[in-house]
This record gives sequence, C-alpha cells and structure tokens, in this order.
Amino acid sequence: MIKIKNTIRRALPQVILTRLRRAKAKFNSMITGIPIVPPGTDWVGYETLIGFMQSNDLLGVAGDLVEIGTFLGGGVCKLSKYLEKKEELKEIICNRLF
Ligand SMILES: C[S@@+](CC[C@H](N)C(=O)[O-])C[C@H]1O[C@@H](n2cnc3c(N)ncnc32)[C@H](O)[C@@H]1O
Repeated sequence: MIKIKNTIRRALPQVILTRLRRAKAKFNSMITGIPIVPPGTDWVGYETLIGFMQSNDLLGVAGDLVEIGTFLGGGVCKLSKYLEKKEELKEIICNRLF
C-alpha cells in the first residue's frame, strides 16, 4: 500500500498533490467539525487529542481546560471551535513561553 502511495505521489505534479491535500483537509473538517487552521500552527495534531476526548467522554468532566505551551495557537483554535460546536461552556486557559 505504501509503495502504491509513493508511486502515485511521484507521478503527480506538486500542484495536484497540494489540491488533493487541501480537499482531504476540507473533507475531514466537514466530517469532524474541527476547523482547518493555517499550516504550521498546530504542531501536535489536535484531531488526535479531540478524538481521545470524545472516546473517553472527557467533556463530561466538570471544569475548564488549560493548555501549557500554546505556541502559534492552531491547536487550541481547533479545540476551541470543537467546544463551540458541542456548545460546551468551558474556558481554555492558554500559556505560552517566549
Ligand atoms: C510542540 S509545541 C506545541 C504547541 C501547540 N500546543 C501546538 O499543538 O501547536 C510545545 C510548546 O510547549 C512549550 N513548552 C514546553 N515546556 C513548557 C513548560 N514547562 N511550560 C510552558 N510551556 C512549555 C514550548 O515552548 C512549545 O511552544
């Protein structure tokens, strides 16, 4: 499977690959409700964190959220939009080192 993917990647022009990546990101965003953020601003991949929160019903836990190490903020933006969509009245307290 990986060999096929790599062969296709090498055969397609970069512009087509970029469009395919954007279309995939848009599709995933529509399905999950997690917004697309500017490239390079979500270093950790908050889809994984949000998936973990969903599968362990963590939104049911009382209290707000704290993010230590926000950096460019793309990840926390995704988390914030996800909470909005779920109509969760939790605050996210962010901390960033300089
Ligand atoms: C891998 S980046 C993740 C940034 C962001 N959460 C994201 O997902 O895009 C980790 C960030 O945590 C910060 N950091 C590391 N140790 C920290 C600490 N002890 N207190 C606060 N921030 C810390 C770093 O400066 C860096 O900005």
